[in-house]
Amino acid sequence: MAATVIDGKAFAVRIREKVAGHVARLKEEHGITPGLAVVLVGEDPASQVYVRSKGKQTAEVGMKSVEHKLDVDTAEADLLALIDQLNNDPEIHGILVQLPLPKHLDEDLVINAISPAKDVDGFHISNVGLLSTGQKSMVPCTPLGCLMMLRDHHGSLSGLNAVVIGRSNIVGKPMAQLLLGDSCTVTIAHSRTKDIADVVRRADIVIAAVGRPEMVPGDWIKPGATVIDVGINRIERDGKNKLVGDVDYASVSEVAGAITPVPGGVGPMTIACLLANTVTACARANGLSEPEGLTA
Ligand code: GUN
Repeated sequence: MAATVIDGKAFAVRIREKVAGHVARLKEEHGITPGLAVVLVGEDPASQVYVRSKGKQTAEVGMKSVEHKLDVDTAEADLLALIDQLNNDPEIHGILVQLPLPKHLDEDLVINAISPAKDVDGFHISNVGLLSTGQKSMVPCTPLGCLMMLRDHHGSLSGLNAVVIGRSNIVGKPMAQLLLGDSCTVTIAHSRTKDIADVVRRADIVIAAVGRPEMVPGDWIKPGATVIDVGINRIERDGKNKLVGDVDYASVSEVAGAITPVPGGVGPMTIACLLANTVTACARANGLSEPEGLTA
């Protein structure tokens, strides 16, 4: 039987509506407008598309949106000075430095210069440590979006076998921590994993986050499993440009119980969760109760 399609686009609309409601309340009841600053260094075309989309959606939910576009050869000291300025700006509650950065900039140094309370990407080492010890933190947006969809589909995730394919700091590792936090039995598989097909076949939940087009075939999937496809890969097929995931949708959707499509699955959830994190950061910064249903 064909899998249920988990509609990330529709889910993201609901998250944005919730965020907009919280933003309106913060404005009316407390006179506070949540503010998000996005910093883009250089002119990477994919990053420019993301940043434009983030700016548009931030404004649409009623938040203040600030963009800083810096030259590709910006000195590290100048970028750090801008981050310091944003850290100290009371109208800014979230700061995102778009990755990847040009090669001459030290990504770890830059990310760890962001105030952890304003680190809406959840990449600062303090937030990574808080998440891994089960404490309140800022949670990386893509894994947070995946978790929300999984909770919505399954209710409880307790006791389920989850296999995360990919071990990046942005998706794989925080995803594994979140699933562990929801009492899954978690395996992280990666390029050196032996007998990866057998490992994945044991999973009730598969998260594919490797960035390799269509690498997970249907015969790796346990019948009825839930498959979350984080990949967004541009390929050329039959002379046309196409977006595909890390999962071979045609064969996997024949076996899985539920699957996220590409596009229209995880992708729209990432920006929605960035907005959710910004409103959460704003509430925390002002000592107000956290918006419900928008955090892990
Ligand atoms: N580049 C690709 N994805 C992301 C993300 O989630 N956050 C940042 N800062 N940069 C990215």
